[in-house]
Amino acid sequence: MAKLTVNDVDVRGKRVFVRVDYNVPMEEKDGQMVINDATRIKETLPTLELLINKGARIILAAHLGRPKGTREPSMSLRPVAAKLADMIRRPVAFVDDCIGEKVENTAKALKDGDILLLENVRYYNEEEANDAAFAEKLAKVAEIYVNDAFGAAHRAHASTEGVARFVTKRGGKAAAGLLMERELKFLGDELEHPARPFVVILGGAKVSDKIRVIDRLLEKADTILVGGAMAYTFKLAMGYKTGKSLVEPDATQVAVRALAKAAERGVRFLLPTDNVIATPVDTGKVNKKGKPVFEMQNSRLNTAADIPEDAEGFDIGPDTAKRYAEVIRHAKTILWNGPMGMFEDARFAEGTTAVAKAVVDASQQNGAKSIIGGGDSVKALNKAGLGDKVTFMSTGGGASLEFLEGAELPGVAALSNK
Ligand code: 3PG
Repeated sequence: MAKLTVNDVDVRGKRVFVRVDYNVPMEEKDGQMVINDATRIKETLPTLELLINKGARIILAAHLGRPKGTREPSMSLRPVAAKLADMIRRPVAFVDDCIGEKVENTAKALKDGDILLLENVRYYNEEEANDAAFAEKLAKVAEIYVNDAFGAAHRAHASTEGVARFVTKRGGKAAAGLLMERELKFLGDELEHPARPFVVILGGAKVSDKIRVIDRLLEKADTILVGGAMAYTFKLAMGYKTGKSLVEPDATQVAVRALAKAAERGVRFLLPTDNVIATPVDTGKVNKKGKPVFEMQNSRLNTAADIPEDAEGFDIGPDTAKRYAEVIRHAKTILWNGPMGMFEDARFAEGTTAVAKAVVDASQQNGAKSIIGGGDSVKALNKAGLGDKVTFMSTGGGASLEFLEGAELPGVAALSNK
């Protein structure tokens, strides 16, 4: 990697400011905030253990949720400090602020191998504004900066970008953590020269969200398999009826261009040929956001090219799943980003599960390298109990998408070169 990593830096006796992505899903239970999924904490342990063994004094900074500059108690990182202490089996100090005297005094008192977690950096508006004065305050306790927060590296915020600039301006080093290094390796280097066949599976709601990724992957992939609601925009662009399915009429030209590019480059571009559909019925209720709540009634298989007028597509059908699984089983490199349907509802989960199983089979039986872009595809794999059976699962949602688009992530750009 062209950037300095935590392995390259002498950290003994130094205060190391480590930006992590501890934006973990939480839920209130009996008046307490409980962490539902600690994957993002677990994935930072190798970096932390390395730093402890090298005698660093660790100051962890992170955001949680989007409190927009208020001290929202449900978004405190205090429960994360307790969870981390459990997982790393050593004390983790916590200060209920991320800048100021209390932070500075606690940081100064740290001994080699000690860990301190600071409170949510987004309790200050200056964090997201990448305010220079705020970044300088954060940097006050840092002799070395380490970024292990791949999931937040697409944000040019004070703790992901500004602090690195201050530390390096003072002559200190800014290095990538081991998780960051792994993410960049699998989502970057490994896909530059993939073993072939290289199969890309794309799902999710919108073509417009994924078009830059599609465009880039059309230059690399042998086959692209499309599922999720975005498939209906492609169908619409091809002149089929899509009923009440979620489509983006404004994106049909973009879809047509992608299909033309695939044909031109000889990339197989497969779309669903059957679907699980249902009839959405307005319940008259509204959700927390004030939006009407629909009930999906009469879920059924649709094998016709058109979707009936009263119906909406929610999953790929069994024939499509079989066809996709066959392609996936012969792949040597697989990149998967986005579920095949509304997998949160068991009636519409089968397509995503079939794809997940095929990805696992290819990895275990065919030696394929399987790389899973973060967010919903990771959730789907974990839900199917298959999360540990693929080569790599990204901890970044938005960040993995932007990186796959070929964007330079500000959190990476700010790190020192080797
Ligand atoms: C994520 O969960 O994708 C990251 O932590 C970034 O969070 P954000 O989208 O609120 O910046």
